[in-house]
Amino acid sequence: MNAEFVKSAVFEKDYPESALPEIAFVGRSNVGKSSMINSLLGRKKLVKVSAKPGKTRTLNFFNIENEIMFVDLPGYGFAAVSKSERASWAKCIETYLTKRDNLKACVLILDIRRLPSEEDMDMLGWLSETETHTLVILTKTDKLSNNQIAKQVRLIAEEVGIDKEHFFLYSSVTGHGKDNVWEALRSVAGL
Ligand code: GTP
Ligand code: MG
Repeated sequence: MNAEFVKSAVFEKDYPESALPEIAFVGRSNVGKSSMINSLLGRKKLVKVSAKPGKTRTLNFFNIENEIMFVDLPGYGFAAVSKSERASWAKCIETYLTKRDNLKACVLILDIRRLPSEEDMDMLGWLSETETHTLVILTKTDKLSNNQIAKQVRLIAEEVGIDKEHFFLYSSVTGHGKDNVWEALRSVAGL
């Protein structure tokens, strides 16, 4: 798939000028946002990923086939950076999510092995209040057996308070779930 890095931005004035529908990838640090973008695009190294949390520190815009823009966001909940740095990342994310007219939907990524954190719950609540179209994706399914997956889906659905049918299952390692996610993304982007 033809995809190219457009630019990085922190402040609104630096967002790319574009009329493409945008999909933002949000979630806690290290959950696998950047990996998911690479995997959806079938590219290994378009987006930088790292085993250490806190890799993505700016908004990064990727133009996909001149049809849709993916926006990789910094993660939240990363304890090892200073309070002021965390506050500035939060501000960057919040400004983008509230101000960007191009934004069509958010992909909120959760690690299937963990219950959602307080910050995940805050983000889900905020996305719902602002009526932002949201796909909730449980990733890293390759780490669990089918039985464990079913159990985690049930527990996470209970915690979040949404029907488990609404979750997408994904693995950036195996590509499992890719077709379903693409179908949903194309639909929300109006393609
Ligand atoms: P920040 O940019 O720091 O917020 O992290 P991120 O959410 O972009 O995570 P990133 O894609 O950099 O991945 C973090 C780590 O998780 C890396 O070591 C990835 O290889 C690993 N990872 C991501 N997705 C998967 C997955 O589906 N399965 C497995 N097994 N590992 C994954
Ligand atoms: Mg990242």
